[in-house]
Amino acid sequence: MRAVVHDRYGGPDVLRLVEVERPTPGNDEVLVRIHATTVTRTDCGLRSADYVFSRLFTGLLRPKRKILGFELAGEVEAVGAAVTEFRVGDRVFGVKGFGAHAEFVCIRETAPLAHMPTGMSFDEAAAVCDGAALALACLRKADLRAGQSILVYGASGSVGTAAVQLASYYGLDVTAVCSTTSDGLVRSLGADRVIDYTQADFTKRGETYEIILDAVGKLSFWRCRGSLKPGGTYVGTDGLRNLLLAPLVRWIWKKSVTLGITRYSRQDVRFVKELIEAGRYRAVIDRRYPLEQVIEATRYVETGQKTGNVVLTVGHDQRA
Ligand SMILES: NC(=O)c1ccc[n+]([C@@H]2O[C@H](COP(=O)([O-])OP(=O)(O)OC[C@H]3O[C@@H](n4cnc5c(N)ncnc54)[C@H](OP(=O)(O)O)[C@@H]3O)[C@@H](O)[C@H]2O)c1
Repeated sequence: MRAVVHDRYGGPDVLRLVEVERPTPGNDEVLVRIHATTVTRTDCGLRSADYVFSRLFTGLLRPKRKILGFELAGEVEAVGAAVTEFRVGDRVFGVKGFGAHAEFVCIRETAPLAHMPTGMSFDEAAAVCDGAALALACLRKADLRAGQSILVYGASGSVGTAAVQLASYYGLDVTAVCSTTSDGLVRSLGADRVIDYTQADFTKRGETYEIILDAVGKLSFWRCRGSLKPGGTYVGTDGLRNLLLAPLVRWIWKKSVTLGITRYSRQDVRFVKELIEAGRYRAVIDRRYPLEQVIEATRYVETGQKTGNVVLTVGHDQRA
């Protein structure tokens, strides 16, 4: 089968589409013929290894896990003898820790995997898990109650579009911050009001929120401390520096600073599926690229300006 591999850390050019051995499912695994996957900021971070810390998980000098790709949607091609929930031909979606930038992947039956939501395309189903996983992790840090006010900064990205939809689902009053072009999109996802960051600085408007979620790693607690209500929570997605302040912030300002960390779970994939089927959640796709153009797709993701998600479509030929 064909897969995108990287043998060293570096820029997008280290990615190569090559022939590799097709995996065989173990007893408790399903083999998925992938039709769509995504390029995420996580893929980019692990490949560049700019945060040296990530090498603890991927290999100190060279990547041990050569095939990136977390989100996927496709069809079950084969199942192990102990698999009971999935059958050959089932349309499935979910997350595999590494390996989805390929034509096939093996996944444990108990992994974050589910039957695809009714009526959804492979492209859409591939693009719903990663942003939602981090958005849910962030929202859970904030001890949500319906009616609370939340400001989602960077509302047009993968995590941002997920956070707006989930916060709206949980009954929060949602203020979204994005640039002019995404105004209509984030309103359609459930934002109650939108602030265009190219026109106004939300920290200077005198409005306060119970939760501020920096979905794009561009804020700091320090910058928006005056926009948090007393007892409010600032949740970041990046920037450990914020956490260093946490004890002081709690002591002096009686506010919380915390960081959401992506955690993929079977429960969350199924939860997102239920929301999709109830019409409460949808995929936001900016661009689609064929797997062969993974380098171009990656370069685009690394601009930091994608709207929602970037999908890789995986075509299969006779050799697959
Ligand atoms: N903690 C974790 O476990 C974890 C895991 C993965 C990723 N992350 C982090 O999560 C963050 C979000 O990832 P993502 O994939 O959602 O990002 P993304 O999709 O690449 O974000 C792109 C969006 O950010 C917006 N944006 C860019 N500059 C902005 C600015 N100065 N102010 C406001 N919005 C701005 C852009 O909107 P406009 O066009 O409107 O500018 C664009 O729509 C990243 O910082 C990533 O490193 C954290």
